[in-house]
Amino acid sequence: MIHPDKIVILDFGSQYTKLIARRVRDLNVYSEIVPFNASPNLLNDPHVKGVILSGGPRSVLAEDAPKPDPDILKTELPILGICYGLQLICNEMGGRVENAEHREYGPAELTVQRSCALFEGLQQTEKVWMSHGDRLVHPPEGFEIVGSSENAPITAMVHKSRPIMGLQFHPEVSHTVHGEQVLKNFLFGVCGCEPNWKMEDYIESAVKDIQDTVGDERVLLGLSGGVDSSVAAALIHRAIGDQLTCVFVDTGLLRKDEAKEVVSTFRKGFGIRLVHRDATKDFFDGLAGQSDPEVKRKFIGRKFIEVFEEEALKLDHPEFLAQGTLYPDVIESATGAGPAQTIKSHHNLSLPDKMKMKLLEPLRDLFKDEVRAIGRILGVPEEIVGRHPFPGPGLAVRIIGEVTPEYVEILQEADAIYINHMKEFGLYDSVSQAFAVLLPVHTVGIMGDERTYDKVCALRAVTTSDFMTADWSRLPGDFLAEVSKRIVNQVKGINRVVFDITSKPPGTIEWE
Ligand code: XMP
Repeated sequence: MIHPDKIVILDFGSQYTKLIARRVRDLNVYSEIVPFNASPNLLNDPHVKGVILSGGPRSVLAEDAPKPDPDILKTELPILGICYGLQLICNEMGGRVENAEHREYGPAELTVQRSCALFEGLQQTEKVWMSHGDRLVHPPEGFEIVGSSENAPITAMVHKSRPIMGLQFHPEVSHTVHGEQVLKNFLFGVCGCEPNWKMEDYIESAVKDIQDTVGDERVLLGLSGGVDSSVAAALIHRAIGDQLTCVFVDTGLLRKDEAKEVVSTFRKGFGIRLVHRDATKDFFDGLAGQSDPEVKRKFIGRKFIEVFEEEALKLDHPEFLAQGTLYPDVIESATGAGPAQTIKSHHNLSLPDKMKMKLLEPLRDLFKDEVRAIGRILGVPEEIVGRHPFPGPGLAVRIIGEVTPEYVEILQEADAIYINHMKEFGLYDSVSQAFAVLLPVHTVGIMGDERTYDKVCALRAVTTSDFMTADWSRLPGDFLAEVSKRIVNQVKGINRVVFDITSKPPGTIEWE
């Protein structure tokens, strides 16, 4: 097993905590997020080279402010506090923090007051991003002020003899122009990390882990054709070959030609044992006459598990069920984050109760970009690796109201035109998710000399970093004009195209 150097990030609840972890990993240093009150024992791991205390929404002055175990601040390892993390270091070590009169949110100018390892390579003044209420008025004994700004006279401080330091601004957000340099300084200059978090090494050690865990047993994996399950399949197959069987439940609700691609990529391309269950009829029969979004979602979720279980039971009880769980899902369930209210009942494959299988989750330490990188190394086609996310209930939540085979075909055609054209224009990778939606309303149009009375197709494109909030993408007018023309000319049944300009919130990304 290859052990990379590691940075531990204590999570005090900032919306940016995951971003810190990603930025560190982008610099080829492995990072792990742990709850703010994690045991200091975890710092005994010799691979841990430093600690970052994240920001957070609370005030350190509040009685019930989240505090780490006091031994964490006593470690000899380097510590970097960011925003709340800085205020916490100040408050816990005898300095003074107070509520600022004005909350500071947005761009600010940092003036570097003294050179220090953290600010190596920075200009005298730097554009940074602030988001804080409290501010420091006095550093603790032993610290010196190394940076200031108009609203926060102590924007950065460093201990004179210990490797402990803090920043009021957020180096992890892209608005801090040289934030990456500051993080690099901390990782390589202060902590002495080696940039040894490499996807090739990860694959090698994950393959060995999978072999050790699975032994001679068999593994079952539900393949959807999405990035996560596809990369999980390729990785597990590399480790255990024919001990892996993938079950692909074809709901008939996938994008145009997607089912064919999945089967040919994995069965022919990778030589993976693949059960292709064409359940199209079951899904269409159950969806007939249903127009309520929740009824549709629940039916699809239930049916999917039922069909998957049927196929799985035919395989004579494999010991393991593999899933493409990613690191953000792991952090969210560990910290209890995530939306409090169910806006939509999301559909994901869960462990069939009856089957009592052990879980195998080889991607649970990875962010999406890392999974994509691994997929590319393993030879998963770009078509799959670079694909936008697709909801479990598929096109059923993109056909408003009742779903019929005819509507699915119309939508598949329109969506394929939109997406292919986006790729031609070089726009596909610049948006986070794009798709077409079919509306059941009819509007009047004119084609040649003839009156038409057909359906409306809505185009959606969003830009987002986490899919919890999203902005609608400002696609060029010329591009939209061309797509609209192609769809109306080529897709029978659609005579009008509209573009969705709703952000999330208040809209959701999918229409149902
Ligand atoms: P919403 O529509 O909730 O979508 O703003 C946020 C993201 O989640 C995807 N999505 C799903 N993914 N199962 C999934 O695995 C689902 O049931 C589901 N519903 C929505 C959606 O495509 C977007 O990326």
